[in-house]
Amino acid sequence: MKLVHYPDQILLTDILQNKITSFSDEKLNYLISKMFKIMKANNGIGLAANQVGLDDSIFIMAIPFKEMVLERTFINPQIMLSGRDIAIEEGCLSFPGITVEVPRFETCEISYYDTAGNKKEETFKGIPSIVIQHEFDHLLGKTFIDHLPELTRDQIRAKLSGK
Ligand code: CO
Repeated sequence: MKLVHYPDQILLTDILQNKITSFSDEKLNYLISKMFKIMKANNGIGLAANQVGLDDSIFIMAIPFKEMVLERTFINPQIMLSGRDIAIEEGCLSFPGITVEVPRFETCEISYYDTAGNKKEETFKGIPSIVIQHEFDHLLGKTFIDHLPELTRDQIRAKLSGK
């Protein structure tokens, strides 16, 4: 398992419906611990399964907050967005060296399963909400540049391919 970079085909593939049906097993726990390792080794705060070449409906986040880390594994997620537009400079481990400001919704309600197969519902605002929207996009086969004007997208593609 390793980090894949844009424009790898798996990043353009909708994997949201590839639901996990077997929980608390060794394979799932292994995949998720490997994802956390890769994310942390690259100083990321969020990572979707297709960013490491998997096609399962999973993403993770770990956001440092004061002395704590807000850490979650979201399996088979569904989201509902509301509120005003907010934006921060976003990075993406699949786009090394690129940061862009993307319009996002302020509030994100998410329903998901945890690694033990428990159904959960939570509401996030601010940075966690933005991270969830960014990672959920990955599961849809979308990346943050899909929110930008075509011209800006072309410039980023050119930069990444070294042209
Ligand atoms: Co990303």
